[in-house]
Amino acid sequence: MLHQLEELKLNALRELENIDNARELETWRVRYLGKKSELTNVLRTLSQLPLTERKDVGTYANQTKAILEDSLRQKEQALREAQLAETAKREAIDITLPGRPFPLGGLHPITQTIYEICNIFASMGFQVVEGPEVEWDDYNFEALNIPKEHPARDTMATSWVDFETENGERPMLLRTHTTAVTARMLETMSPPIRVIEPGKVYRYEASDATHIPMFHQIDGVAVDKGITMADLKGTLYEFARRFFGEERRVRFRCDYFPFVEPGVEMAIDCLVCGGTGCRLCGNTGWIEILGAGMTHSQVLQRGRLDPDVYTSFAFGIGIERLPMLRYGIDDIRLFYSSDLRFLRQF
Ligand code: DAH
Repeated sequence: MLHQLEELKLNALRELENIDNARELETWRVRYLGKKSELTNVLRTLSQLPLTERKDVGTYANQTKAILEDSLRQKEQALREAQLAETAKREAIDITLPGRPFPLGGLHPITQTIYEICNIFASMGFQVVEGPEVEWDDYNFEALNIPKEHPARDTMATSWVDFETENGERPMLLRTHTTAVTARMLETMSPPIRVIEPGKVYRYEASDATHIPMFHQIDGVAVDKGITMADLKGTLYEFARRFFGEERRVRFRCDYFPFVEPGVEMAIDCLVCGGTGCRLCGNTGWIEILGAGMTHSQVLQRGRLDPDVYTSFAFGIGIERLPMLRYGIDDIRLFYSSDLRFLRQF
C-alpha cells in the first residue's frame, strides 16, 4: 500500500511538472486530489485496513496529500506569474518611440506687450487695475471734462449700446479710451494713488493699416500731495527708456486733452534714423507715442479730490503702436487676423 502511494505521488509530481496551463492543472487536481481520486479513496477507507497498517498508511497518505496540495499551489502561482509576464511583454510600451507632439500655445504679442508695460510701471510703484469695457457716458466723457456737444466727442467715434433710460437717454457705450478707468479710480481710491489700467477700447471706424475698431490702451494716473510735471516727465522718460532702449531721447510738446491742464504729447527719437529723418518718422526724426498731462482740477473734483491739496499726472498709451514700432510691423490688422505665421514669431 505504501509503495502504491509512493508511486502515485511520483507520478502526480512528474505530470505536474509538464503542465503549463490552468485547464490542465484543473484536470490534474481532480485526478489526484478530487473526491474520486485514489488518494481520497485511500484516506476514506483507512478504517477498513487492519490496525497494523492503518497508522503508517494514514500518516503517509496525509503527507502525500499535503505535498500534492502544496505543489498545486506552487504551480498555480507559477502559472499566474508566467501569464502576467506574458501580458506585460505584449502590452509593453516602446520607450524608444518619439512622443506625440503636444501643441503649445503662446501669449499674443499684445498680451506680452501689456505684461511688459505693467511690469515696468509696477517696478515704479504702480498698481494694475481694470475697468469695464461696456461703460457709462459719465466715466468715459462727463467725468473727464467732455460734456455733451463738446467737440472732443467727435474725435472718438463712439459705439453706443442699445439701452435707453426712462427719459429716453442712451448713456451706455463701449469705452473709447481707458481714461474711463482713471475716472473710476479717482472716485473710488484715496491718495496716494498710482495705478495703470490696461484694456480694450472701441472706436466706430473702418479698418485700415493703422485703424481697427477694437484696440488696446493703457492709461495711468498718479495722485498725491506735491506731484508735479517733473514727476510726469521722469516717470514717462523712464518708461520710454525701459521699453525702447537706454539710448532713447524723449520730447514733450503741448497738446490738448480736456481732462488735463497742461496737456502734452510725448515723442521718442526715431528708432530707425535716430532723429535725422526717415520714412517711419515722416522726416521729423520723432515718433509720438503717448498723451499725458496734469490732471485737470475739475476732473479731480469730480472724484471728490481737493485740487488744493492733491495734484496728479495722467497718461494714455496706445498699445498696438508699440510692438509695431519695435518690430517694424506695418499693418495693425495683422494682430487680429489669427494668422499663425505672423503670431508664431513672438
Ligand atoms: N485718452 C486719450 C486718447 O485716447 C489719451 C490720453 C491723453 C490719456 C492724455 C491720458 C492723458 O490719461 O492724460 O487719445
